Amino acid sequence: MSIHKPNQIKKITTHQLQAMKERGEKISMLTAYDYSMARILDGAGVDVLLVGDSASNVMAGNETTLPITLDQMIYHATSVVRAVDRALVVVDIPFGSYQGNSREALQSAIRIMKESGGHAVKLEGGEEIKESVLRILSAGVPVMGHLGLTPQSIYKFGTYSVRAKEEAEAQKLIDDAKVLEECGCFGIVLEKIPATLAKKVAESVRIPIIGIGAGPDCDGQVLVMHDMLGITQDFKPRFLRQYLDLNTEITKAVSRYIEDVKSQDFPNTNESYS
Ligand code: KIV
Repeated sequence: MSIHKPNQIKKITTHQLQAMKERGEKISMLTAYDYSMARILDGAGVDVLLVGDSASNVMAGNETTLPITLDQMIYHATSVVRAVDRALVVVDIPFGSYQGNSREALQSAIRIMKESGGHAVKLEGGEEIKESVLRILSAGVPVMGHLGLTPQSIYKFGTYSVRAKEEAEAQKLIDDAKVLEECGCFGIVLEKIPATLAKKVAESVRIPIIGIGAGPDCDGQVLVMHDMLGITQDFKPRFLRQYLDLNTEITKAVSRYIEDVKSQDFPNTNESYS
């Protein structure tokens, strides 16, 4: 087992993401929470790695993203940053670490940047978190917004169904996207909203719009790595394209291993020291 040494690969920056939008090149983004997987995803060439607070679900087994702490996010982010040669690493500020006031938001962002080495932070919300966004940006920390289905507000919404289907909510989302752009955010994640609305938002702002369940007209796409690799089970929303069935593959491999141990086929003489 070896820990890699960084090489001279050109790193993705927020400016490059902006240039990608301007030349019509779609941006690829996936979640990552640990060194080994982040190493594979970065090596495969993904543009942005999101250390999402979905770690609360897929890594810790919680029902929602609410329980994960700032310390735990920093732990995950540190592991991902260590793995990366090229991708931009964006780190979610977790629930309860920025909603109190803008000073708390800035402190959380600074802890993430200082302790993990992440390259940017992501917060959920629009107009209501404007002061926090501005304060974090004024410290030189790049900020990504997140609108539409914002999982930290799940108890307010009551369900994980598609957001902004009604005119009033759709208009607020467009207004919020413009507020985040004016503040200076470098991009916005749009989660689970109608494709037509996402297209309208992507056309209304100059900054990159990254969709998850927001249709094909966003400037890029993000998926939770455990979902697209088929590690999670029983989570098959319409927007998810599953590229592997790792759950089945891992189960098969582990079953073979158990069989080999029980039958004393493993280890053989070649796998033992003389
Ligand atoms: O935490 C996360 O994984 C996210 C994505 C769903 C965008 O915020």
